[in-house]
Amino acid sequence: MPIFNNKKGKSENLTLPSDIILPKHIGIIMDGNGRWAKKRGLPRTAGHSVGSNTFKTIARYCSEIGIKYLTVYAFSTENWKRPQEEVISLMKIFKSYMLEAINEFKDETIKIRFIGDTSKFSPELQDLMKQTEEGGADRDGMVLNIAVNYGGRAEIVTAVKQICSDIESGKLDKSSIDEKLISDYLYTADQPDPDLIIRPSGEYRTSNFLLWQSAYSEYVIMDNVLWPDFSKENLNEAIIEYSKRNRRYGGI
Ligand code: IPE
Ligand code: IPE
Ligand code: MG
Repeated sequence: MPIFNNKKGKSENLTLPSDIILPKHIGIIMDGNGRWAKKRGLPRTAGHSVGSNTFKTIARYCSEIGIKYLTVYAFSTENWKRPQEEVISLMKIFKSYMLEAINEFKDETIKIRFIGDTSKFSPELQDLMKQTEEGGADRDGMVLNIAVNYGGRAEIVTAVKQICSDIESGKLDKSSIDEKLISDYLYTADQPDPDLIIRPSGEYRTSNFLLWQSAYSEYVIMDNVLWPDFSKENLNEAIIEYSKRNRRYGGI
């Protein structure tokens, strides 16, 4: 049984069986920040702030154990309807994460990409997203997709519009439309579909996350943990559960 070490080289009791089937691509719906804060009598924004630290820990851990793609759901197309104060505080958290990523994550191998309609963010945030992506463009480690202003339905609508426009301009022939082509017009083009999708906080729904790509993803819903408390052990638990699943893809 291999023991994975944390960043400081200190051995934690984190074990994954040696015969584990590691998912190539993990999706995480980082849910439960508000409830975590409420339970402690804190403002919801405190939950988002602790949740952003959890995100950094878990992203690094996924990279350490050899996950090739990680997609985290950070802000949905529907989250704009939250109180303005909460949206503003989330934007501040995104900004400070990107400043950290640009200025301090020089030794990282993780390649960050933003997926979603980023044109709705402030010019400053859009510029930081660009710098974050460009700063890691040459890295060859885990691909980290951060889904912001992301909605699975909006993603499909954008793809359909682009396909129509490419047909109109003659770049594409109608007869070439198939599942592979549609996948190639999504934000996750060239990436494998998620094998495992984890949702802490116990909600049994997709909330518009990776609708097309998750057709055969294995869902692990964890109702005993809210995102700010989500640990490396919880990630291992989800992977172990995934590893036991019998993926049939419609076969027998
Ligand atoms: C997830 O936590 C973070 C975002 C959606 C931005 P929530 O804020 O949804 O937390 P709960 O679900 O209200 O507890
Ligand atoms: C999904 O969580 C979006 C993110 C985690 C970013 P929500 O909290 O927005 O989803 P619902 O409202 O419970 O479906
Ligand atoms: Mg929620």
